[in-house]
Amino acid sequence: MGWPSDLEGRLLAWIEDNHAATRSGDRARTAQVAEEFDNIIRSVLAQRRSSSTPSVTDQLLRVHVDGRPLSDAEIVSVLRNWTGGDLGSIALCVGVLVHHLASRPELQSRLRKGVPDAELDLVVDEVLRIDDPFVSNRRVTTAAVELGELGLPAGARVKLHWTSGNRDEGVFGDPDAFDPAGHAGDNLVYGIGRHACPGRLLATLELRIAVRALLAGTTEIRLDPDRPAEREVAPVGGWARVPVLLH
Ligand code: HEM
Repeated sequence: MGWPSDLEGRLLAWIEDNHAATRSGDRARTAQVAEEFDNIIRSVLAQRRSSSTPSVTDQLLRVHVDGRPLSDAEIVSVLRNWTGGDLGSIALCVGVLVHHLASRPELQSRLRKGVPDAELDLVVDEVLRIDDPFVSNRRVTTAAVELGELGLPAGARVKLHWTSGNRDEGVFGDPDAFDPAGHAGDNLVYGIGRHACPGRLLATLELRIAVRALLAGTTEIRLDPDRPAEREVAPVGGWARVPVLLH
């Protein structure tokens, strides 16, 4: 992205604030935290405009869409998506993966014996399907649509509940049944259709590296019996804290 590395502390602090604001349900606070992220991005843009080393951020500053350069508001919005997706979602996914592995020694020993990347990626996706921390997205219908037996007018507000969809008994039978290859085709962790996650390959790679590093550095991962894991509070999914003992 060409962003300065000393921004990391500020970005990490922002994730904490953002989760706290989302949990509070206080819209004014959420808006304030969103504004803070936009300010961080604007400070990066000011630096990029005076820098000569090329980066993805610079390409975005130069790109023309429909014959015109993007406005600052559009650039900030795109950069917010590119970075916010990575900052929050990976951390939430790692929490779910660590909790799942710590609760299932048999899965740990299977993975410790060594599995090819493709198989590990399917396992990671299946764990995230069962306990999808990326709860929902919103849409506004641009035309009248029929959804199952439901007729929706144009302009309707729709919430896509990924966590619920990923546990649909009509599709998966027992939603907790662990079948990485069998469930892959119906897995909605990265969304579906036109707006499906473009960060999926990067996220898959990051999560694979995280799981492999965790397994390689330990012989056993257990939940800490003295400190129970704490669930995140809706609308954030996954876990707020997963204390584990690493051997
Ligand atoms: C860590 C796991 C991740 C999960 C579970 C995840 C999940 C999703 C989901 C469900 C959507 C669909 C949103 C919708 O339909 O409205 C989405 C969209 C998106 N994701 Fe991810 N994501 C992850 C990581 C990432 C990463 C690493 C990036 C970028 C570096 C990223 C960037 C985006 C962007 C830009 C969109 C919007 C696409 C659009 O609206 O066309 N995501 N993601």
